[in-house]
Amino acid sequence: MSGRRDESPGNYQTRIYLGGAKGERPSLPVRLEALEQLARQRLSPEAYWYVAGGAGEGTMAANLAAFDDYRLVPRMLTDVSRRDLGRSLLGRRLSVPFLLAPVGVQEIVHPEAEVAVARGAKAAGVPMILSTVASRSLEEVAAALGDAPRWFQLYWPNDDALAASLMQRAEAAGYEAIVVTLDTKMMAWRERDLDNAYLPFLSAKGLANYTSDPVFRAALDVPPEADPRATVRHWSNVFAAPGRTWADLERLRRSTRLPILLKGVLHPDDARRAVEAGAEGVVVSNHGGRQVDGSIAALHALGPVAEAVSGRIAVLFDSGVRSGADVLKAIALGADAVLLGRPYVWGLACEGADGVTEVALRLLADIDLSLALTGADALDRLDRTWLAPRFVNSALQN
Ligand code: FNR
Repeated sequence: MSGRRDESPGNYQTRIYLGGAKGERPSLPVRLEALEQLARQRLSPEAYWYVAGGAGEGTMAANLAAFDDYRLVPRMLTDVSRRDLGRSLLGRRLSVPFLLAPVGVQEIVHPEAEVAVARGAKAAGVPMILSTVASRSLEEVAAALGDAPRWFQLYWPNDDALAASLMQRAEAAGYEAIVVTLDTKMMAWRERDLDNAYLPFLSAKGLANYTSDPVFRAALDVPPEADPRATVRHWSNVFAAPGRTWADLERLRRSTRLPILLKGVLHPDDARRAVEAGAEGVVVSNHGGRQVDGSIAALHALGPVAEAVSGRIAVLFDSGVRSGADVLKAIALGADAVLLGRPYVWGLACEGADGVTEVALRLLADIDLSLALTGADALDRLDRTWLAPRFVNSALQN
């Protein structure tokens, strides 16, 4: 095998098979269902369901099923000896087509929380998006990332000074973009968490970015360490602002120099408004089915949003990405890149930073092999002509 081939992400599988010849098995299951079950054994039922659950089960299932509505149509006898998995995003070339999605309050999954994810992301060469409601401060996570790429996700607080402060800190700590999540103006009706009466923030978990913020601290009578209950009370008052509209976006736009991406966009009209508002990108997402059960599968929203945007700003996608083929399909439908959510959290639960790295490298390997076997030498080549709808094979005729 040539040296170059040894370096391709798909070669990850050779390591596993060579290990098998010596009687070794991968320490973590490769099938994500099995990985999730292993994670479940390691987690409290409350923590497991906080991650696995949604606003109900309907949209979560629809997110996964939507990928089956599109099928790749492989092409033969093309030269795929070299593959380019890179994507251009916000004026930069990323060597990988996915980022780790912002997932809050990771201390419920692993004691090293977002610091472990940072190490895992760095080792895999995958950019990380840090949540506002992280268990470690954005500066601590940045230190663990070193020079590895990162973005900051903003839950747009009901306090402009706090929003500006969080974004300034992110900019100072080397985060390269702000992802403003629009779909969480309040917590959804989440039956699993309600049955467990479990909301980790109320136990002062996931508040590290607030308790380390000078604006947040200045609004408290005593330091957060001295009165966690008052801290949680203030946090719940400032966390979100249900009254916010598109008109408010201009103010936010003015308070940072970083590119802004709007996460949770599902309607093409909202995508057009994002362009008009000066956003640099949208993330087509239904928050992994955690907000509106019964909402459109995120993948079904992707094509119309990409068309509405028509290349003017970046289009990212999440909610249901589980395999290399899923990534190929999302890109063929118009995504510039995708975000990986729950799967890396299962890796974190099982093996901390190493688990995150493994999950990321496996997805990368799957993308690489799926791309090659589909007959393309670069993700940039993919468009709708590589897809056929599930039940209609007219696309295959002629
Ligand atoms: C999330 N997500 C999320 N999104 C966000 O903008 N800020 C956040 O703090 C969180 N927190 C969070 C916690 C947990 C436990 C989950 C599972 C998800 C949503 C996340 O970024 C992404 O949109 C979804 O995870 C995508 O769905 P799948 O692919 O994970 O099912």
